[in-house]
Amino acid sequence: MNLRYALFGGLLFALACTSPTEPETAPPAEYPELGAVVSPDGRLSLTFFLDSAQQLGYRVARDSGVVLDTSRLAFSFQGQPNWGSALERVKATTQLVDESWETLWGEDRVVANHYRELALTLKEVEAPKRTVTLRVRVYDDGFGFRYEFAEQAGVEELVITEERTEFNLTGDHTAWWIPADYDSYEYLYQETKVSEIDTANADIFDLAARAILERHAVSTPLTMKTDEGLYLSLHEANLTNYAGMTLRVEEDKRTLTSSLVPAADGTKAKVTLPFHTPWRTVQVAESPAGLMESHLMVNLNEPNVLDDVSWIKPGKYMGIWWGHHLGLTTWQPGPQAGATTEEAKRYIDFASENGFPMLLIEGWNQGWENWYQRPKVTDGFSFTKDAPNFNLREVVAYGQEKGVSIIAHHETEGSVLNYESQMDSAFRLLEELGIHAVKTGYVSSIIPEGEYHHGQWMVNHYQRVVELGAKHQVMIVAHEPIKPTGLRRTYPNMVAREGVRGSEFNAPWGGGNPPYHLTVVPFTRGLAGPIDYTPGLVQLDLADFAREVFVPTTVGYQLAEYVVVYSPVQMASDLPEHYEGERALEFIQAVPTDWEQSRVVDAEIGQYVVVARQERGSDDWFLGALTNAKGRRVTIALDFLKEGATYRAHIFRDDEDAHYITNSMDYRIETYTVSGKDTLPLNLVPGGGIAIHFEKISE
Ligand code: NOJ
Ligand code: CA
Repeated sequence: MNLRYALFGGLLFALACTSPTEPETAPPAEYPELGAVVSPDGRLSLTFFLDSAQQLGYRVARDSGVVLDTSRLAFSFQGQPNWGSALERVKATTQLVDESWETLWGEDRVVANHYRELALTLKEVEAPKRTVTLRVRVYDDGFGFRYEFAEQAGVEELVITEERTEFNLTGDHTAWWIPADYDSYEYLYQETKVSEIDTANADIFDLAARAILERHAVSTPLTMKTDEGLYLSLHEANLTNYAGMTLRVEEDKRTLTSSLVPAADGTKAKVTLPFHTPWRTVQVAESPAGLMESHLMVNLNEPNVLDDVSWIKPGKYMGIWWGHHLGLTTWQPGPQAGATTEEAKRYIDFASENGFPMLLIEGWNQGWENWYQRPKVTDGFSFTKDAPNFNLREVVAYGQEKGVSIIAHHETEGSVLNYESQMDSAFRLLEELGIHAVKTGYVSSIIPEGEYHHGQWMVNHYQRVVELGAKHQVMIVAHEPIKPTGLRRTYPNMVAREGVRGSEFNAPWGGGNPPYHLTVVPFTRGLAGPIDYTPGLVQLDLADFAREVFVPTTVGYQLAEYVVVYSPVQMASDLPEHYEGERALEFIQAVPTDWEQSRVVDAEIGQYVVVARQERGSDDWFLGALTNAKGRRVTIALDFLKEGATYRAHIFRDDEDAHYITNSMDYRIETYTVSGKDTLPLNLVPGGGIAIHFEKISE
């Protein structure tokens, strides 16, 4: 046990000695403390107590300032009394953990896991005298806590009708948010004060699945900035066998309360005891960089459980995909069908010649003729039978010859019962053919009817897919997913998800993703985990496909996406014929997807972002910088480069007079010799970006 802790009179006090200013760990004076815990650096502290109404609460402080004011914790159940008041402490233990672990793939090879834990066991004073342990882990850059329900005599199943975890803000912070839609995260972020969070003002794009039931509620991660310049991000880690958490803004406009996504019967979660909830997490940082460089999410998940991981090889991929979205080809069979054996071979040839190891094929299977039929055809898709004019075995074999492996596609259109009935045979087929990756999709509302994408039933479905994938050696790229919560640590075959308004919205049907989008996404959705954003468009004028439609970013911006938006699988999303002869392809070929370390060099959420990452197993670095609709000059120090080494900087930048609306496709490549002592001015044109490969040329 750490010596900084001592037990006095049955109460646990955190005596933080490292910080010059004593953290304000104390609960409000009138409330007796149940337990407290402070981060390893002594700056961030949580205190738990019972208020005057005997209600359980907590407070969070950093240095001498309050981060979260008195916030209550409570549950309600079906057929059982509420929980959260009239509790007594049974036990409070703490431990300090300081370890590190290696990622199989990720933003950083080595992850430090350094926290102090408090396990606070509470028992109800009156019947039914239930025992719940609050497990709290406090890092220097944030914390997580979860509820651990002990076994209870005579109770097999616990039906949770609501969890009320409060986060009581200390001011009207600036928030970057999307609505609490139970079916989708595909939104542009709004930047408003917390008090102004109102779904009625959100930009709601009409998608096949939309379920906004609360007007003043948001999905997580919810990122905020206080007037004092502190950044907070609220989310959850290890969301397993439970409903996804949204956050409701209460009438006082200060308190955020957890609001779980309901099941078809209106309850929130059904669990068997003993049971623990996901971690409720709060990241705390002095800069946007501090948010993005945190490992809180993965650290609050269990280590890898897969023995053989040799088949998990993320990387770059192309796809029979963008043509469908442009309306050039169809998913459906017919004269314009995009997935034919012949077309797949053409893509394989291009991918092979240009060094892309994987190819996604959408439209390979039977059933697309039922896509978007209304009433919905709920058993339309086969996940084992080839579409007409497509021979999966032949295509896989051809790919093998050319060194290109196939990413299969399982679009369910939300008919999950149909998918579940075929999943075993579908994954057996993948294993038999040596296909190690599948992209899943859940466009449209869920069957079983009444279930939502983000409710417990679907959380469990997504998890079944991950585990089945692990069994059959298949990596999962999930679209229309449940948000990531760090499970990639435990199941490293869960490589990436969408769960964001992805680049597909740049198609004529989508209205485009304005340039500010990716200045926000890395600090909101990106904090949760890898994003299959599908970057890399180079033909940005889409007039050939739809009148006056263009992709509202520049080529420099599109290239920067590969570094700014993290994913272990990155798509080169444009058509082969659009890449032909484009020098931008050189950057897409060079940029890796696996990193030794990652740094946010500079950023202001909603304005611009500069990210640098060192390639894993190399001294080369890659940098991506992109800006919103405003052009700007950002000067950066290259002090991340290896000390003493000389680098050739291959700079892919927009022309001086480029602009994301009027002149988005004029760019140039410049080459300079640089070292870590240099600074580099980055000229970002409106809606533009810069991508740099720092190639080490000498030590
Ligand atoms: C939506 C996905 O996000 C997109 O990538 C896919 O092409 C379509 N669904 C069809 O499955
Ligand atoms: Ca989608």
